[in-house]
Amino acid sequence: MADKINMPEHGLTIAVIGGGPGGYIAAIRAAQLGAKVTLIEKDKIGGTCVNVGCIPTKALIHSADVYREAKNSSDIGINAEVTVDWAKVQSNKNKIATGLSKGISGLMLSNKVKVVQGTAEFVISSKLKVVKADGSSETVEADRIIIASGSVPAVPTIPGMENKNCINSTVALELTEIPKSMVVIGGGVIGIEFASLYNAFGTKVTVIEMLPKLLPMMDGELTAIARKQLVKSGIVIHTEAQVLAIEEASHGARVKVFLNGKEEYFEAEKILVAVGRRTATQDLKLENAGIASERGRINVDSRQQTNIANVYAIGDCIGKVMLAHTASAQGEVAAENAMGIESVYDESTNPSCVYIDPEFAGVGLTEEQAKERNIDYIAGKFPLIANAKSKIMGCPNGLIKIIADAKYKEILGVHIIGPRATDLITEGALAIRLEATVEELISTIHAHPTIGEAMREAALDVENRALNIYQRH
Ligand code: NAI
Repeated sequence: MADKINMPEHGLTIAVIGGGPGGYIAAIRAAQLGAKVTLIEKDKIGGTCVNVGCIPTKALIHSADVYREAKNSSDIGINAEVTVDWAKVQSNKNKIATGLSKGISGLMLSNKVKVVQGTAEFVISSKLKVVKADGSSETVEADRIIIASGSVPAVPTIPGMENKNCINSTVALELTEIPKSMVVIGGGVIGIEFASLYNAFGTKVTVIEMLPKLLPMMDGELTAIARKQLVKSGIVIHTEAQVLAIEEASHGARVKVFLNGKEEYFEAEKILVAVGRRTATQDLKLENAGIASERGRINVDSRQQTNIANVYAIGDCIGKVMLAHTASAQGEVAAENAMGIESVYDESTNPSCVYIDPEFAGVGLTEEQAKERNIDYIAGKFPLIANAKSKIMGCPNGLIKIIADAKYKEILGVHIIGPRATDLITEGALAIRLEATVEELISTIHAHPTIGEAMREAALDVENRALNIYQRH
């Protein structure tokens, strides 16, 4: 974000391509700084996140969590006959997404951002042609252009992919019935979140991942705990499994997989393909403006500027970290630079969150990355079995790990698996932002009883003085 306080250039016109969490935030920030902003969106405002990504998935996951808890609460004295009204689960999810999309449209109005509906393409670097659904078009000219065109699900070249029971994450959000069985191809975030959510609703789920490890970007030790929990909940997971083909089957489809040296078949009502997303830059005619890209990924510097001085790009379309909060952070940076305020995107505080049961989140260096970089580090750990609040919540199978530099004990990474991990990770991000040491985290009083106090215990463990656990020596 803004490093120096410069005065923004007034009277500039800015066009933003895409109304997702990157584009709409960039539009608001530019408007705050005095720009006349036009936002161009071909579909619904809110982009993938609000309409077919983070928000609808998390709404379904919330319903799944409530169902799971309600069913499994007799141990704490709550007995209930619980059933799922899937149509209502779906309508609740849709209501939340629609409400948020409307809210963003309201924000556009209140910030005087003009919204143009249509698909933008470059004519030259300062002029866009916006093609409407009815085939008509309109020209939008601007001093600066911010590209936030997002991504779409990647379609792998697997024979048989055209099978009607082979679906992507967008379709998986809209199923009219809970499938009896599902094979998920890809053990990344999308695959694992959908596996967890449908498993909670009673679907028999099998995950097929080609790498040796699920969730490749997360800390390995915590990922192993996540895998154990997923398996315990009934999900079958195969890693180092190569998908060879998708074939017709009497009740859905079957996936032919090379596993443990032989071919095996996995049959299911639905096959969810979640093998990554690719940038959505094909419609933009980047070549007309001379904007450099590699395999559809727009090249930018740390100010989010492309090789063309008046054009910026943010979020999924640059093909690096495809997360909504990353896009928003980059959107603010791009808008500030576009308005003449020097601003730099800092990746070091960018958290990753996986919404499974229990939640899983990380920020900064994983232990694997610390080793790869030959960093002399200490890993402090605190298991949530020794945390009172986790026990009260019936969720003791978690761990908090802090990676600190061995010499100064500066916090370099924080990794959490446990209840509310996705909220707690912000403390880790802030610690990294402030270049905090474990001593600074330790000398901060953490409320009791909370899951958060386990963060302090993990910091204490870096110094081998955790209080609420038997000592190692
Ligand atoms: P991903 O890149 O996270 O994971 C894809 C997985 O599929 C990888 O583990 C890869 O090894 C595996 N794979 C690829 N080809 C395969 C094949 N033929 N057979 C078996 N496995 C194969 O992509 P994903 O999960 O589709 O997510 C896309 C993007 O959306 C990511 O950047 C992710 O961070 C973002 N996202 C973030 C969420 C969150 O923050 N909670 C939720 C959902 C998506």
